[in-house]
Amino acid sequence: MSFLAAQSVGKRFEREGRQVRAIDDFSLSVQEGEFVSIVGPSGCGKSTFLHMVGGFEPITEGSICLDGQPITGAGPDRGMLFQDYALFPWRSVIGNVAWSLEVQGQPKAQRLATAQKYLELVGLSAFSEAYPSELSGGMQQRIALARVLAFEPRMLLMDEPFGALDAQTRQLMQEELTAIWQRQRRTVLFVTHDIDEALYLSDRIVVFTARPGRMKADLVVDLPRPREPEVRKTARFSQLRNEIWDMLREEVLAAKAGA
Ligand SMILES: Nc1ncnc2c1ncn2[C@@H]1O[C@H](COP(=O)(O)OP(=O)(O)O)[C@@H](O)[C@H]1O
Ligand SMILES: [Mg+2]
Repeated sequence: MSFLAAQSVGKRFEREGRQVRAIDDFSLSVQEGEFVSIVGPSGCGKSTFLHMVGGFEPITEGSICLDGQPITGAGPDRGMLFQDYALFPWRSVIGNVAWSLEVQGQPKAQRLATAQKYLELVGLSAFSEAYPSELSGGMQQRIALARVLAFEPRMLLMDEPFGALDAQTRQLMQEELTAIWQRQRRTVLFVTHDIDEALYLSDRIVVFTARPGRMKADLVVDLPRPREPEVRKTARFSQLRNEIWDMLREEVLAAKAGA
């Protein structure tokens, strides 16, 4: 049995009195501890699918089960990370990371210890008393990552989390996330439009078609682990990049033609 099992998922939205089909007959299985990325043209339903897995968007066609249980709403077993890190500006770094533990009712000493541990994991323990506005975008996103990791969800749902960062910071974040993942082995569903990012991070890459989003391809990323930055320069990396790029190009053109 798969840890995450999406079966024939569909989604329709009402827009200006018309029905817009966002996702159509989409099925996906993810094993526990797997890192799976979703790529696809803009507007093909990637975020919508992630929101359904997160329990923020009702599942009206098909079903999504997590560890054998149908998803009916949000829960602490899933942690979500978005592009805009949405830290609380009035809270210190450690206050931000400890926040979800406070909501869960953990005693203060325990939650500060856990928060400190995750700040160390993202390399920011020296900044625990700083405020978000004093830190760079990359650092803020690492704090947001520490905040999600701190409540120890079984699954991480990440929607273009590094989309707002500059190219160098972005690569460093990918390396950091890979290092953390290699230590913690959480199940991750990661949405990105950056093929290199998907290749560097993932065990598998799922390619969505143009809207309505369907499964175009489900590729195993057979690059060696642990991943090192040099993998980006290998022939296999380029080959996979070209393969995915060709598929995406077709779908982006189809999306344009249909728009
Ligand atoms: N709440 C909503 N109401 C109406 N339409 C929506 C809503 N959310 C998403 N859509 C539409 O569904 C489609 C898929 O959106 P989305 O999942 O955000 O795409 P992606 O993340 O792949 O860019 C788009 O056409 C979008 O406009
Ligand atoms: Mg999106």
